[in-house]
Amino acid sequence: MKNQEIIDMTSEFVAPTYSRFGIPMVRGKGCQLWDAEGNEYLDFISGLGVINIGHSHPRLVDAVQRQAEALIHVSNLFHIPQQAQLAKEIVSRTFPAKVFFANSGAEANEAAIKLARKYGQHVKPGRVEIITAHNAFHGRTLATLTATAQEKYQKGFHPLLPGFLYVPYNDLSAMETAVTDNTCAIMVEPIQGEGGVNVPGDDYLPGLRDLCDQKGILLILDEVQTGIGRTGKLFNYQYYDLEPDILTMAKSLGGGVPIGAMLAKNEVADVFLPGSHASTFGGNYLACSAGLAVLEVIHQEGMLENCQRMSRILFKALSDFSEHCELIKEIRGKGLMVGIELYSEGKQIVNRCLEQGLIINCTMEKVLRFLPPLIITQRDLDRGLDIFFKTIKDIQG
Ligand SMILES: Cc1ncc(COP(=O)(O)O)c(C=O)c1O
Repeated sequence: MKNQEIIDMTSEFVAPTYSRFGIPMVRGKGCQLWDAEGNEYLDFISGLGVINIGHSHPRLVDAVQRQAEALIHVSNLFHIPQQAQLAKEIVSRTFPAKVFFANSGAEANEAAIKLARKYGQHVKPGRVEIITAHNAFHGRTLATLTATAQEKYQKGFHPLLPGFLYVPYNDLSAMETAVTDNTCAIMVEPIQGEGGVNVPGDDYLPGLRDLCDQKGILLILDEVQTGIGRTGKLFNYQYYDLEPDILTMAKSLGGGVPIGAMLAKNEVADVFLPGSHASTFGGNYLACSAGLAVLEVIHQEGMLENCQRMSRILFKALSDFSEHCELIKEIRGKGLMVGIELYSEGKQIVNRCLEQGLIINCTMEKVLRFLPPLIITQRDLDRGLDIFFKTIKDIQG
């Protein structure tokens, strides 16, 4: 099929919930993608932070192929060895805890919200409120949409879920003021992704941890976007001397095979009993085999180190360029999660880069976002930056 045929069939039969680039992709390898007509693209967005180990990594392909031949699904009526192994692997790289497996970031967060409410009520009846931050993004199910304190996503879906309060991000005193006796948890992203790649001050997460300890409430960190090496450590919280009570992850955990996970400290996790929560597909053979392969590749192939190395080169190049660029207001991020805030809208730059074969995206209208695969080489980084800088120069005139 040609590009246009695929676009037309999509418009006719697929719900119009996405604004798309208008390019049907059919093949990927490493940092490269090819469309249905054979045109090549350099991927600086990794399927929205999913393809951290690169497209079609041979070890992931092999693991999925072998698992598909052996067994794909039986449901959680049975014990699933790969599920137990993946949970063990995640816990061994984080903190003593138990894992609930889901199929997406929203579902991992949905599980976190349900668990926090159940735990809160176990501590004290009526303790069900969760405080989240302005410009957060936690997902599109009704509970996670309510947690997502952004009017543009919530519009049209009221009434939302009761029991959520919003405060400005990176503002410890606002958070402190918002906590009441009915609060069961604070839920934040360690770096806001969709909200504009907002990096909080160094004291923010430790301050939230202290606040939660003082008030006896839970700290939920949503690492759906920052997790699995995106910021140069397996999880962003590992840059600090603290642990959350609940940690959620998804996106890159399966390297493109849908999976989400919620990790909760044992004393919290233990309020979930058989029947408290469930998912037909959650933690099935295919998804967990993919997760195991991804974690193995991340660690055995030095991807965290490469992420940190490429990050230094990328931030230096962007910062040098921005000194002579009137369009750029600020560059922020960590590891290979980068936001470039412009003075004006970024859509034109995204489209012009795409015409030149570079895939980036834009969030909050003015923040260009780079999330390249963690395997990126300096050659590919330079190629992408060449296209990006030339595009900006052309637009600047
Ligand atoms: C921080 C964060 N949480 C949750 C989600 C929702 O994940 P999903 O789209 O897999 O439901 C996203 C998606 O972008 C995210 O960035």
